[in-house]
Amino acid sequence: MIDREELCREALKARKNAYCPYSHFATGAALLTKDGRIYTGCNVENNAYGPSNCAERTAFFKAVSEGEREFAAIAICGAMEDREPEEVCPPCGVCRQVMSEFCGGDFEVILYASEGRMEVYTLDQILPLRFDLDSFH
Ligand code: THU
Repeated sequence: MIDREELCREALKARKNAYCPYSHFATGAALLTKDGRIYTGCNVENNAYGPSNCAERTAFFKAVSEGEREFAAIAICGAMEDREPEEVCPPCGVCRQVMSEFCGGDFEVILYASEGRMEVYTLDQILPLRFDLDSFH
C-alpha cells in the first residue's frame, strides 16, 4: 500500500530546500521505491537557466545514482516560493520522459495541493503513446 499522505509530507518538506532565485517558483518531490524507500528532491536553478533541474528529476537522479531502479510512486508539489501550494503542479514533459525511462505505465504520480487535496494519475495517463525503444526490437 502506498502511503500517499506521507509521500506528500516528504515532498512538502523537500520543497523547503528549493533553490529558485530566478523563477521564485519552489517545487518539491518525494519518490517511493518499490521496496519502500523514499528519495526527495527540489528544483535547483542556475543563472544560465539551461542547467536548472526540476524537483522530480533531482529525486530520480538521487535514487538512480544510489542504485535504485524500481519505483512505485512520486508525490509532487509546487508554488511561488512565498505561498503554499494551493494548486496542483503537474510535471513538465522532460520529467515525464525521465519517469518513462524507469517506470511502468502503472507508476503513480501524486499531485499535492494544500489542505490534503491530491490528484492521482498513472504514468500512462499523463504520458500516453510514449516512446519505447524496446518495442522496436
Ligand atoms: N519545476 C519543477 O521543479 N517541476 C515541475 O514539474 C515544473 C517546474 C521547476 C523548474 C523551475 O526551477 C521552476 O519550477 C519554474 O519553472
